[in-house]
Amino acid sequence: MKKIFVLTSLMSVLAFTQLSAVDGYEVYKSKCSQCHIENISKADVVKNFAKMKAPPMVEVANQVKGNIIIGDDDDDVHRHVVKLFIKDYIDNPLLDKSMCNPMALEKFGVMPSQKGKLTADEKEAVAEWIYDRYDGVKFQ
Ligand code: HEC
Repeated sequence: MKKIFVLTSLMSVLAFTQLSAVDGYEVYKSKCSQCHIENISKADVVKNFAKMKAPPMVEVANQVKGNIIIGDDDDDVHRHVVKLFIKDYIDNPLLDKSMCNPMALEKFGVMPSQKGKLTADEKEAVAEWIYDRYDGVKFQ
């Protein structure tokens, strides 16, 4: 019995190590940063708007986290649903799903699908990174 317990704990530790082996920030830098600037103020967006390819990630994070509201205010459920939205959007972006404001959508168009460019672990890691990176960081 004890052996089984040790074995299962070891397995979960290994599974966890494997999951966290992917660094979400590295994924952002290699797969998202060419379009989404990490952090920028609204004033600087106005100045750089012509050169921008997509809304900055600080805006994306605030939009998605702010628009997804969980009935009983459960933080874990909120994190889960926000991450599901992000992971789905990477593969299947769609005008109907976008929370982007109409002016930005008109300028940038809908995000091109990144399907096949990220492994499941990379999508998980980057979604987790987006959730935590902008904790308390407002787009203003
Ligand atoms: C080739 C450019 C490009 C790349 C690369 C890209 N995006 Fe986007 N993304 C966009 C554009 C443009 C939009 C705004 C239009 C829209 O909502 O579809 C957008 C919107 C989004 C949205 C929806 C925001 C909302 O408010 O609804 C999410 C989430 C998102 N991107 C996440 C990512 C992540 C994560 C990556 C990297 C894995 C990534 N994007 C890579 C161009 C890109």
